[in-house]
Amino acid sequence: MSQQQSRYAVFGHPVAHSLSPRIHAAFAKQVGLSLRYDAIDVEPADLQAALAAFAADGGRGANLTLPHKQSALALCAGLSDRARNAGAVNTLVRHEGGWFGDNTDGIGLVRDLTERNALDLRGRRTLLLGAGGAAHGVAPALLEAGIGDLFIVNRHPEKADALADALGQPGRVHSRYWNDLATQGAFDFIINATSAGRGHETMDLPFGIAAGRTLAVDLSYGEAAIGFLAWARSANCAQAIDGLGMLVEQAAASFEIWHGQRPDTQPVYLDLRALDVVLSTGD
Ligand code: ATR
Repeated sequence: MSQQQSRYAVFGHPVAHSLSPRIHAAFAKQVGLSLRYDAIDVEPADLQAALAAFAADGGRGANLTLPHKQSALALCAGLSDRARNAGAVNTLVRHEGGWFGDNTDGIGLVRDLTERNALDLRGRRTLLLGAGGAAHGVAPALLEAGIGDLFIVNRHPEKADALADALGQPGRVHSRYWNDLATQGAFDFIINATSAGRGHETMDLPFGIAAGRTLAVDLSYGEAAIGFLAWARSANCAQAIDGLGMLVEQAAASFEIWHGQRPDTQPVYLDLRALDVVLSTGD
């Protein structure tokens, strides 16, 4: 019997747009590894069976993207603190006893901002727009990176309350109503973690939440980030950054977990940026 090839993949629905196969192929080439990394489209109800089939066919590691990041928690035999705190999994590692779940989204965002963009996040009064999977994924890492107070708003306010409660730092993390944003003053750091741009929807954001010092970051990239980043520029934010760098950094952190080697992310990031990829969804 021939030796089974180790396989890696991203599972999502939809997933055809994913840049992850391209990114992991570039990393593998850089460090001289030969590996197979596919994009696999699976509906939520079929994820467990698909992961089992993948493991049986040599699957050693996987990334998860929409809509699987939160539901996959229940399928894991073990979880990292990062995944548990985020309540979401974007990286799976095959162990003997099953899948071990981790989350590299938060560290990916923080590395993109602090290393690639050389920004200091410490002490920044921060506004997080959204309280879904993406917001859950990044909030713990932002707190760990030393931001100041964190204010969370969400269209359905009960989810902002739930995320604030889950983060467990009542003196530092606050939920607010979207309609009260205009009275909250300016923030040093605003993160768009909503999926509004992916749905081509606009958000009602008062200019008063931004000031000349404000860093604005959209976790999406391509077409989905255009609306929020245009708002940030017209609100005179100091910087407006999309999620392409975070995408490459979260992939590098997953790659390191699986292969024990840290790729150089900058050339891969620059290649993707040069392609000027205009895509409508996340990773
Ligand atoms: P993701 O994994 O990308 O976070 P999600 O878990 O479905 O996807 O969360 C989507 C987030 O975008 C939610 O915070 C959602 O707000 P609600 O919880 O109120 O639905 C937010 N969102 C989506 N469309 C929006 C819009 N047009 N305006 C404001 N927020 C929006």
